Amino acid sequence: MTTSVAGESRAQFSSKIGFILAAAGSAVGLGNIWGFPTQAASNGGGAFLLIYLFLVFLLGYPLLVAELTIGRYGQANPVKASGKIMPNGKAAVGRSFAVVGLITASCILSFYAILAGWLMGFFFSPLLEIVGLHDAAQWLESFSTGRNLLLTVLFMVATIYVVKNGVAEGIERWSTRLMPVLVVLFLVLIGYILTQPGAMDGLKMFLIPDFSEVNSGMIHSAMGQAFFSLSLGACTMMVYGSYLRKDADLPKTAAQVALIDTGIAFIAGLLILPAMFVAQNNGVQIFDDAGNLESSGDLVFGVLPAMFDTMGGAGLLVSIVFFALMVVAALTSSISLLEVPVSTASEELKMSREKSSWVIGGLITLLSVAIIFNFGWMFDAVIIVSTEYAQPILGLIFALLVGWVWRRDTVLTELREGSAEIESSLFWKVWPWYVRVVCPAMMIFVFFA
Ligand code: TRP
Repeated sequence: MTTSVAGESRAQFSSKIGFILAAAGSAVGLGNIWGFPTQAASNGGGAFLLIYLFLVFLLGYPLLVAELTIGRYGQANPVKASGKIMPNGKAAVGRSFAVVGLITASCILSFYAILAGWLMGFFFSPLLEIVGLHDAAQWLESFSTGRNLLLTVLFMVATIYVVKNGVAEGIERWSTRLMPVLVVLFLVLIGYILTQPGAMDGLKMFLIPDFSEVNSGMIHSAMGQAFFSLSLGACTMMVYGSYLRKDADLPKTAAQVALIDTGIAFIAGLLILPAMFVAQNNGVQIFDDAGNLESSGDLVFGVLPAMFDTMGGAGLLVSIVFFALMVVAALTSSISLLEVPVSTASEELKMSREKSSWVIGGLITLLSVAIIFNFGWMFDAVIIVSTEYAQPILGLIFALLVGWVWRRDTVLTELREGSAEIESSLFWKVWPWYVRVVCPAMMIFVFFA
């Protein structure tokens, strides 16, 4: 990877498909495979799915284009890029919003690493079981401070390791190879689960909307989920946009990323909701007497192992492969989160990429450790502040900057680089005023409703 010294070319993803898979790798992660099905299951299934789809395409997608465009125009880390879109003399305002974004990305990574650590535990546990280390295997699946510390640190070291190697070598290579494998395994598992007794109830819940479940709290959750899943409002897509080639068509690329991301969330729902009911059929307690989910946070950990248990001898192998892929999906997301502060530190403070990866990754690991020792209050607090407040508010601010502050002709010139005809397209007729008025109005409405 080349560093961005003035006059030298900036590191880029080597192919368009490489970029799409890397950006989709950032988007596809625990949010899709864990967050979305859990939220859908606790918010009435089909109705949540519909509202989620609506928000992804009518709110998330235009904002995704906005973030990618700022990044590619800036050809620099998010802080510098956000300064560049401001009028003369006002760069500091844009820069300070991006600094908030960078802090948000770091906070998200600090809890994300803990969650991903649990998945690593579920990956290693059957391996230990196979070699006869039963107690160690149990320990990895149990909740303890020691286990959380070990696995979180392991996951952070893996993240730092990929990021320090830079964009093309590190990030792109991982994403291109493993995303397709993930999809295939999901399809195989869906094929299996749908043959099991009880599965159809889950399928019905997921696909047939019950509109009596719609309420403002659920719409707020769906918006948060859409922002989280598309990696918006934390400068991640801005930094990836800065590595995107100038000949790439931004609206089209963003559409592909949003489609892949939503497709995988949908597929995960097709697996997890039926698996819930199959598990219930097999005696696992999923709903309490009032019909609410028992414990939504670890739904996935209750339901999936129960599914693997029904598969006989093959179950062990399938569960190892499944959790391995989950860890990789989490890793392609965590590297995009760490890339935000690392690219900024290495460019703005002139640190080497290697050093800034270890220093910043180390600081974020310390934050994770603090959360682990204060799990009771801090875990949820960090999640709520970063995902329910910081992300949507920053999303709103970037929409306002692109819509009202950034010069329209500069935006057009940037978009034209990759699609010469854009000025006469429907996209250009709608998007500028849409980001200017409709997106902020929708966000404010959902926020205060
Ligand atoms: N979108 C990822 C997921 O669904 C997580 C993620 C990566 C993220 N980068 C982000 C979330 C930036 C918010 C902001 O798991």
